[in-house]
Amino acid sequence: MSTATVDLGPVPSSWKRRHLLGLEELSAEEITLILDKAEVFRQAMDSGERRIPLLTGRTCVNLFFEDSTRTRNSFSLAARRLGAEALDFSTSTSSLSKGETVIDTAKNIEAMGVDAVVVRHRTPGTPLLLANNLRCSVINAGDGPHEHPTQGLLDILTIRRRKGRIKGLTVALVGDIAHSRTARSNIWGLKKLGAKIIVCGPSTLVSPRWAELGIEYSYSLDDILPRVDVLNLLRIQFERQYTRPFPSVREYAHLYAMDRARLAKAKSDVLILAPGPINRGVEVAAEVADGPQSAILDQVTNGVAVRMAVLWLILGQR
Ligand code: NCD
Repeated sequence: MSTATVDLGPVPSSWKRRHLLGLEELSAEEITLILDKAEVFRQAMDSGERRIPLLTGRTCVNLFFEDSTRTRNSFSLAARRLGAEALDFSTSTSSLSKGETVIDTAKNIEAMGVDAVVVRHRTPGTPLLLANNLRCSVINAGDGPHEHPTQGLLDILTIRRRKGRIKGLTVALVGDIAHSRTARSNIWGLKKLGAKIIVCGPSTLVSPRWAELGIEYSYSLDDILPRVDVLNLLRIQFERQYTRPFPSVREYAHLYAMDRARLAKAKSDVLILAPGPINRGVEVAAEVADGPQSAILDQVTNGVAVRMAVLWLILGQR
């Protein structure tokens, strides 16, 4: 394991934020700053640097009230690689089951001397609630269907690295737009950076009201396929639905699964993204998920770099 000092300079004075709650409130300049710093961390990772101790002595706690594989481990790794301490809070073994509120739980964790909490919760607005009640920094790792800013950032970083730009690209978000925080964070971030966005899926999961924000909507993946540069394939969030949005998963896959036949109708250099977890055969066929156009695992690598950049910007300034 090599230890290196990556030359990022001090946290730029243009960065004023203590929290990262969503991409909706960030400017194009702030988003670009995070992406540029993430790029430095990604290149350091690629050259084998695993320890970049810019946050020695800081402590980050993952407060995850919802399941996670990628996001939680990625935040832990990002904090550790920056030399910070990373602690995992598990809801299944906590006093939440004894009736403690989320704010009380978070305040008790904070009282142990914590610089940042990374929070995931099924209720939209939980990170904002904590930001208003804690003294430490709060980073949103997904609040219900609302936002998942680091996922949006890592998707955008992956597009920028593969395509060399964001402005002018046509990016389609396909699937459960109604319940996807990944969709919302992508929409805010991509829109600010000048991409054209299409939201696509069954009419029960894609509202025509997206048009009011200047976003194209479509119920037919086959119609939009020939003109998209990037496809971000989103999982159907069954856990956030109270009624069935379509008759069967088979019918959904028939119309929306990105498979080899559909790939043949897309641009030859179309980029395939998915935030994971992927359901093979539902939103994406195995041959596409594992194929040359897919950047699905590269997204995961970029996720660590993005989270290093976010932690450094938020905790490196004080
Ligand atoms: C996403 C999430 O949890 O919002 N996954 C992730 O963070 N990589 C998307 C999803 O669950 O479908």
